[in-house]
Amino acid sequence: MATNITWHEGLSRSERNGLRKQKGFTLWFTGLSASGKSTIATALEQHLLHLGLASYRLDGDNVRFGLNKDLGFGEKDRNENIRRIGEVAKLFADSSTIALTSFISPYIADRKIARDLHASDKGDALPFIEVFVDIPVEVAEARDPKGLYKKARAGEIPNFTGISAPYEAPVEPEIHVRNDQVTVEEAVAQIMEYLYAKDLIVKPAA
Ligand code: ADX
Repeated sequence: MATNITWHEGLSRSERNGLRKQKGFTLWFTGLSASGKSTIATALEQHLLHLGLASYRLDGDNVRFGLNKDLGFGEKDRNENIRRIGEVAKLFADSSTIALTSFISPYIADRKIARDLHASDKGDALPFIEVFVDIPVEVAEARDPKGLYKKARAGEIPNFTGISAPYEAPVEPEIHVRNDQVTVEEAVAQIMEYLYAKDLIVKPAA
């Protein structure tokens, strides 16, 4: 715990948003492994970049090669994984960037911590939008693109979410994508409609 440090007040959020000509916020994707979080988040990131909006995706597998390479899949490590990503996403959002995170983030309490980090006592909270990428575990297991469910069933991967570790589904996510029923394009469109409706991004003139 550092002592003798003081917070340095820099630019205001509205000044930064004004100069960057966009609002910063976090789109927090949560769902089982193989639910399609990263596929949808990548397609959305590409779509947002095409619209000229600075966006960046933080991905569970990739971040575990670097920033979080010291963390495993026990409950405490997953807590710390999500806490760090919550902090990093907040920095991106504060820089007037659209942060997209795709982590299983299986615990309600951890996602709440990430959400609460984005709140502010100064009344200028950064929007935090939880996107539940929802598929039944049987469908995820049948898809199994990385063969991980198979290994988990064989007892080769301990604490595997949905098999031998819990997944706590969001109760009231801002966006609920039923990803066994929609295409990637439809999921992206659903999220874009939400962002337009909430005035988080401005609809381009037709
Ligand atoms: S989280 O639970 O801490 O949010 P995270 O999204 O970072 O997980 O990483 C999940 C990815 O790690 C999965 O998509 C899968 O590829 C891989 N993985 C390896 N071991 C496990 C495990 N025990 N449970 C879930 N995913 C695992």
